[in-house]
Amino acid sequence: MRLLVICLGNICRSPMAEGALRHHLAASPLAGRVEVDSAGIGHWHIGAPPDHRAIACARKYGVDISRLRARQLRPEDFDRFDWLLCADGQNLRDVRRLAPPELAHKVELLLEWSGVEAGAGVPDPYTGGPEHFEQVWRLVDSAARAAVRRLSSE
Ligand code: 4NP
Repeated sequence: MRLLVICLGNICRSPMAEGALRHHLAASPLAGRVEVDSAGIGHWHIGAPPDHRAIACARKYGVDISRLRARQLRPEDFDRFDWLLCADGQNLRDVRRLAPPELAHKVELLLEWSGVEAGAGVPDPYTGGPEHFEQVWRLVDSAARAAVRRLSSE
């Protein structure tokens, strides 16, 4: 099973979600059986580490995301990954538009796919404060825990 988390820049929400997913999967019976990666729709931050506020927030919860590096979504990701999980509704629309029509069913909202809340997005914290990063962590951590439950029952 291969999961790709997608947001706009790949420096805030999707690396935080990647970190939370890796953390909870590693501590579960699924350890070693699920590959997790993240990517951005935009190209601006290619090669950059996560935003320092995202790194600090994840570290508070025991997750080190400092070695992740941003990359842009690639056409071959639609073949390679089983699920492409988007942070918010705008990301979902953009990625579905980029998807080959026969693979567009792999593109879902992270919070909906994991069973946290249908239609819900993870708000962009980029222009916000530390409390916005805390909110992102709460959401992606809930999604990661729920994803382990979903994948464990499949
Ligand atoms: P992310 O946040 O999509 O959660 O990584 C953003 C990061 C950078 C930009 C926008 C959102 N930006 O416009 O550069």
